[in-house]
Amino acid sequence: MKPDKSLNDGHGNEMALAELRRSLSCVDLACPGLDLYGHSTRVGDLATGLGRAMGLGERDAQLLGEAACFHDVGKLFIPVSTLGKPGPLAFDERSLIESHCDLGYNALANETGAFAEMARNIARLHHERYDGKGYPGRLGGTDIPFEARIVAVADVYDALRSVRSYKAQQSHEDTVGQIVKECRGDPGGFDPLVMEAFLDTQADIRAIWDRAMLSRIAATMKGCRERTG
Ligand SMILES: [Fe+2]
Ligand SMILES: [Fe+2]
Repeated sequence: MKPDKSLNDGHGNEMALAELRRSLSCVDLACPGLDLYGHSTRVGDLATGLGRAMGLGERDAQLLGEAACFHDVGKLFIPVSTLGKPGPLAFDERSLIESHCDLGYNALANETGAFAEMARNIARLHHERYDGKGYPGRLGGTDIPFEARIVAVADVYDALRSVRSYKAQQSHEDTVGQIVKECRGDPGGFDPLVMEAFLDTQADIRAIWDRAMLSRIAATMKGCRERTG
């Protein structure tokens, strides 16, 4: 499977993007339970792995992963009290959280080049579903850009495997089972070609996630040691 177009033709405004990455990282320092930067970088690593499995060359797979790191950048503009709320969300709170897709797109709106365009597509469309039941635009099938269809699977995989304020973590096996369940319809919730690549390489996906989580824990411990001297 080849992507619709080469992803390897530009890298946007690196200073502005580096600043956004730093801001994501600062959220984790201030509110470690949110794990926003950790989640973003793990989704980036998983997207790179899925990109490889989908036939992208190494450089394009790396760029896809780098762009995927910005998928939740819109959450920087949502109050932490809502993002980290442990209980069920009211309608307004749910709408506010769902607005992170458009907020992320807007945060990247001034960046130029193909890389920024890919990051914008991912930020706005990573919660769209292949069956047209996602948000914010209820797009379906290949109306959803290739990069967002890949990140959708990577994002759900990490979300299910991670601890959140409102849920416990799940095993790899339970996570794969739940993602497969989302694909029972015709069409299902995820791109069938991405799902085929995901299931064919799930041992690699699991290893990528384990590695990313371990390096995240090591970085957090190092940060704690430095702060406590
Ligand atoms: Fe998201
Ligand atoms: Fe996410």
